[in-house]
Amino acid sequence: MNFAGTESAAYGPCLRTPRNRALTPVQQTLLIPLVARALGDALYPGHACDDAQAARLLDRLQVDGNTYLADRATVLNVLWRTRLIRAAAQAFFAEHAQAWGLNLGCGLSHYFQWLDAGHNTWVDADLSEVMSLRKPLLPAQPPRLRAATVDLQSADWWQRLRLPQRALAQPMFVLCEGVLMYFQPDEVRQVLQQLAQVLPSGSMLVLDTIARCGVGQAQWHASVGQTQAQFHWGIAQMQELTACHPRLQLRQSHSVAPSHGWMGVAMEAMWNPWGQSAPLYGLAELLVQ
Ligand SMILES: C[S@@+](CC[C@H](N)C(=O)[O-])C[C@H]1O[C@@H](n2cnc3c(N)ncnc32)[C@H](O)[C@@H]1O
Repeated sequence: MNFAGTESAAYGPCLRTPRNRALTPVQQTLLIPLVARALGDALYPGHACDDAQAARLLDRLQVDGNTYLADRATVLNVLWRTRLIRAAAQAFFAEHAQAWGLNLGCGLSHYFQWLDAGHNTWVDADLSEVMSLRKPLLPAQPPRLRAATVDLQSADWWQRLRLPQRALAQPMFVLCEGVLMYFQPDEVRQVLQQLAQVLPSGSMLVLDTIARCGVGQAQWHASVGQTQAQFHWGIAQMQELTACHPRLQLRQSHSVAPSHGWMGVAMEAMWNPWGQSAPLYGLAELLVQ
């Protein structure tokens, strides 16, 4: 099966679904983390995430990863967030052995390779085009590794997920990485509010954020600029994440800056001298109270 098209060669590689539909620019961005996880370990052994699936997928997709690999900063950002997310999820499942995890906008990531703890359940969910691309590459293995179709920009996305009651019988781990910055601020608020309303107390929500100054600037981003996707949501303060619902609490926030060495730290210090602003690129762990 050939998943790669050529007509957007002026930009990055172009992916097609098995039914030969070209993915949209935002859907194409899934290649950026896939390439980083497939090929980035060799560049950054200290941040290696040992993704056993990503290189295999890249090979099957017949995509030349070098276009995205050239953007070293983004490769490092993806490895950094992958390791943080994995550690947060492993700690969560160590505490909640029967819990469910939900990866919203999963792309072609495969967290369950690291997170299968024997009794937990994981649901990978994305738009239908992406899920049809994913299906032959990373088939679900019910009952504990599941797949679902979701459009987070639709009003009833949570209901349409049709998670069984038992998924919500204990706290849930919800991941949304590399997704929300492509949404309008109102759409992000709705996603956060929906999750805050339905998730059981003790649930954890992990998402990555860009600073507000990045909004509208994706054309200058070495990887995202090649897809023609655009950033529409960024934050000035971390508190903006929790302001939309009283059940949301900021448990921890991380900035990628120190991973980039003294240059990253210096840049962040110039950008945020008093440490009051949200990082240029960061990861937030939210707790549902
Ligand atoms: C940069 S990729 C991130 C993929 C994955 N989370 C990862 O880190 O490998 C962005 C993903 O968001 C998904 N996405 C965009 N809009 C979406 C929507 N309305 N509902 C669900 N997923 C969406 C895209 O299809 C794509 O897979």
